[in-house]
Amino acid sequence: MGDEMTKVALITGACGGIGRALVYKYASQGISLAIADKSLNEVTILVDEVVSKGGTAKAFSGDLTKKSYCDNLPNVVKQEFGRIDIIVNNAGLMRRGAITDTSDKDYNLSMSVNVEAPFRIVRAAIPLMAEAGGGAIVNTSSCWGINPGPNHLIYCTTKAALAAMTQCLGRDHAHQNIRINAVCPNEVNTSMLRTGFEIRGLNPDAAINELNKSVPLGHIAEPEEIANVIAFLTSDDAGYICGSLVEVNGGKAVY
Ligand SMILES: NC(=O)c1ccc[n+]([C@@H]2O[C@H](COP(=O)([O-])OP(=O)(O)OC[C@H]3O[C@@H](n4cnc5c(N)ncnc54)[C@H](O)[C@@H]3O)[C@@H](O)[C@H]2O)c1
Repeated sequence: MGDEMTKVALITGACGGIGRALVYKYASQGISLAIADKSLNEVTILVDEVVSKGGTAKAFSGDLTKKSYCDNLPNVVKQEFGRIDIIVNNAGLMRRGAITDTSDKDYNLSMSVNVEAPFRIVRAAIPLMAEAGGGAIVNTSSCWGINPGPNHLIYCTTKAALAAMTQCLGRDHAHQNIRINAVCPNEVNTSMLRTGFEIRGLNPDAAINELNKSVPLGHIAEPEEIANVIAFLTSDDAGYICGSLVEVNGGKAVY
């Protein structure tokens, strides 16, 4: 049995665009999956799909704004599977607009899901991974967490916080053989992007065709193109990558 075949990966936001692509990728590698997302129904359907195709998956649905859910999640996964090797803090949400458009509710929700939840999950996971001799964590930040784009004040702020957190974590826990990195995509063809076009009264397919012209590689990312990078970062092949912010942008940098 290959090394990947014994690993257990926890993915948050697993039923979303990038999360789902990563579930399929890990399942194809024989990695066992702890599938976490908000909707019990959606999580159950995805677990059943993976299991029906011969994979191993269990459901860990819950709301990442709940502190106790986040604090307990790594331990619960370890209890269920006997180990936890990989964590991908992939769940996230986007509130749009300038600071004057950003309510207290937008601020608190964005900070809670995009920053506090990864903070709590990683804090709970470090002792477990350290005791087991190591692990790999990827946080899904954004190109906009490195160079903020216009009119997404709170989103950029949270993704910058997550990027800084990742760099601190990467340095602080390397000595425990825990590698912590962030993937920083530019635009990805998921519901997060598409709903933004819908809100503005645009046809998402037409808007994406237009957006594709702005990318040097000719198209915005498909979720699989981000999932492939996350899977690499958590694999043993990336064994010397630690505390990095990996931009995946098709050549389209944010200035
Ligand atoms: N789509 C893009 O253009 C893009 C670009 C850069 C970074 N990202 C980041 O990639 C990650 C994945 O996003 P996506 O594009 O797949 O979007 P998505 O909306 O398809 O998926 C996000 C997932 O997070 C889950 N989630 C949100 N709030 C939650 C909560 N309170 N509790 C539990 N789960 C919750 C959602 O249910 C959803 O399944 C996010 O962190 C996002 O910020 C996306």
